[in-house]
Amino acid sequence: MMSPASRILGTGHYLPEGVRTNADLEKMVDTTDQWIFDRTGIRERRIAPDGVVTSDMATAAAKNALDAAGLEPPDIDLILVGTVTPDMPMPATAVFVQQKLGARNCPAMDLSAACAGFLFGLTIADQFIRTGAMTHVLVIGVELLSRVVNWEDRTTCVLFGDGAGAVILGPAGGATSTDGKPRGLLATKIQSDGLLAQSLMIPGGGSVMPMSADILALKKHKVHMRGQDIFKVAVKNLYAATKEALDMTGMTADQVDWICPHQANLRIIDFAATRLGVPKDKVLTNIDRVGNTSSASIPILLDESIRSGKVKPGETVAMCALGAGISWGGAIVRM
Ligand code: ACO
Repeated sequence: MMSPASRILGTGHYLPEGVRTNADLEKMVDTTDQWIFDRTGIRERRIAPDGVVTSDMATAAAKNALDAAGLEPPDIDLILVGTVTPDMPMPATAVFVQQKLGARNCPAMDLSAACAGFLFGLTIADQFIRTGAMTHVLVIGVELLSRVVNWEDRTTCVLFGDGAGAVILGPAGGATSTDGKPRGLLATKIQSDGLLAQSLMIPGGGSVMPMSADILALKKHKVHMRGQDIFKVAVKNLYAATKEALDMTGMTADQVDWICPHQANLRIIDFAATRLGVPKDKVLTNIDRVGNTSSASIPILLDESIRSGKVKPGETVAMCALGAGISWGGAIVRM
């Protein structure tokens, strides 16, 4: 295994205060708390208030990550924002984050890989640090899904929530754990399969269906998902990506301290963990409280787990995610 080039120097997250419970949804669509909880593991999700935009949440998470890393905005060499719910189609949400943080004169760009967006960002950041081109990269996963969900469609609206998570990736610098193992990003594996692109889309509002009164009336500018199609590949691909990333490190699943999976569905997480042979008490989850926050999911969960003292320096975390694209990935990091 190559020694790690980069290391997570700090993490942060932001969740809006507003809570929408399953009971609230029972009043909006034909659903029940029991259906939602049994099928997904979700009890409630956070919803951003009017006036809060994607870059506001991303900036709040980024500030927390910078504080944790002991760095200032001018120390950032690159800003990568994974999101499918940008402030606007142009320019990138990342430049609004740059503006709000006061991090000037560094490249700032968005990445569209849906729920895998954070892992795609982490992989790209690692490459820039590996070549020596960049020192500190701010990687953010942020989604304001409540603005692109059709609140009349019970098959999707019960799943998603709003939030942001961020990490600062910097040089590994030969750091080791107390037992002498290298700390840092040990391996990442990212992949896409465009043959399944139609399984999960916001079909309207782009060049295929430019925005029009018809597109709005038909709600084509909202999330459309064939949930079952994704469920089947999710279990298979999450397992495969995690296993491939583990193989790249020479480690086996039982040597990992924690699994930090994308929070899309507790049943998907359970199936994937069982296939990996990882016991439930090693699997981090917060889906009951935050729902599916797409690209924000992993960095929120990671930051919560670090701040609560669950994940400790020197421990190994396997991350995995799959979403629209379909795009998916796995990453192994020693904190
Ligand atoms: N309340 C009550 N009933 C519902 C609801 C609801 N909210 N939603 C659907 N149903 C009904 C359906 O209409 C269907 O009824 P029918 O049998 O009469 O036709 C029945 O429940 C079963 O529906 P399924 O779609 O088969 O339910 P399933 O067990 O597959 O669960 C779910 C649906 C939760 C969406 C699941 O398929 C899933 O999690 N899929 C993967 C989602 C995912 O990982 N997406 C990628 C990440 S998101 C991103 O990239 C942005």
